[in-house]
Amino acid sequence: MASSLKIAVVGTGWWATQAHIPALLENPRATPVLVDTNPDALQRAANKYQIDAAYTSLNDALDAHSDIAGAIVAVHHSAHYTAAKGVLENGLHLLLEKPMTLRAKDAKALVELAERQQRQILIGYTFPYLAPMQAAKKRVEDDLLGDIEYVTCSMSSMTIEFLRGKPAAYDDLFNYPVTGPTNDTYSNPAFAGGGQAHLQITHSAGMMFYLADGLRAKTVTAFMNNLDCEVDVADAMAVRMENGAVATVGSTGNLGKGDGGIVEVHLHGSKGRLRADAISGLVYMRLHDGTEERIAPTYPDYPAAEPSKRFVDLILDEAPNEFPGKTVGLYTVELLDAAYRSAAQEGLPVHIAELYE
Ligand SMILES: NC(=O)c1ccc[n+]([C@@H]2O[C@H](COP(=O)([O-])OP(=O)(O)OC[C@H]3O[C@@H](n4cnc5c(N)ncnc54)[C@H](O)[C@@H]3O)[C@@H](O)[C@H]2O)c1
Repeated sequence: MASSLKIAVVGTGWWATQAHIPALLENPRATPVLVDTNPDALQRAANKYQIDAAYTSLNDALDAHSDIAGAIVAVHHSAHYTAAKGVLENGLHLLLEKPMTLRAKDAKALVELAERQQRQILIGYTFPYLAPMQAAKKRVEDDLLGDIEYVTCSMSSMTIEFLRGKPAAYDDLFNYPVTGPTNDTYSNPAFAGGGQAHLQITHSAGMMFYLADGLRAKTVTAFMNNLDCEVDVADAMAVRMENGAVATVGSTGNLGKGDGGIVEVHLHGSKGRLRADAISGLVYMRLHDGTEERIAPTYPDYPAAEPSKRFVDLILDEAPNEFPGKTVGLYTVELLDAAYRSAAQEGLPVHIAELYE
């Protein structure tokens, strides 16, 4: 295996130009090849990062660079499935942005395709790479909490202007190196799927499934409030897991400018509880035997570069895949797919099995 990998970046909009392309350029073991169906977006990214290898289709990129080993898919949500399928059909490893897909059936199809092709799917989650979240994961793995019985999973974030289709309102905060998302990316259901749940609960639910890896939703009921948007902004879900555990999963995107919000998972088990917030870095554990542990809050930088670095390590070194499509990716999509169907029926319970009928 070569020691420097060509990685296609499929979709060169906001997130690829903010996170993936700079991270690949900083990685001596990787070389990015750019792909975007929109020639303007492609050219802007190629100019900014002075990359000559830029194509309007993955097939054109592969014709010119048959040694591309993997692809990072960072396109709008409704295009995830088709773009990801194309990557796997070409025999490439895949780093796929969150949410893996909009529909559970599509996520399952990608998992099966990757297995047939013997290729990896890594989902582009970020928060669990943070040191306090790793400390939390270690305590769960060491079985300090016992069987997980009840979870609260809560995320509040400043996304309302994205959901309204006015991303320029955040220009002064995000300092986009090339571009922000388009007006449609997170506000138009044809591009975004849903709103806050597809954009953000995917992070907190993904963290829940990562921290407590015995959980998988069985039945979901949900209510959603769109406020003044075409997509959901405030969401409340109740979940029965396959192992009998119950969870509440909630979120709002309506925070004021500059508010970092919370991305919190609070696990309650047969032997104790643990609360972890990825934004403050606070981890608190209290066991039934009286043991208490506080990990002091930290304010770590957002680990935007970590997914592409891990992706390269995974291909070159066969490093562990922290967020495989088969588990964290798929389970999160199942929860969200069921939640949207439930909310459309005023909270009627939706069984995960129905998603595959
Ligand atoms: N992990 C994170 O923290 C994080 C942060 C922001 C965005 N994201 C995710 O990144 C993804 C992209 O978001 P964005 O804000 O950059 O969107 P965007 O709209 O800014 O960019 C998407 C780009 O994909 C291109 N595109 C669309 N379909 C394509 C296709 N089939 N093939 C090639 N190119 C195609 C578009 O022309 C556009 O340039 C989303 O899934 C989003 O949720 C993740």
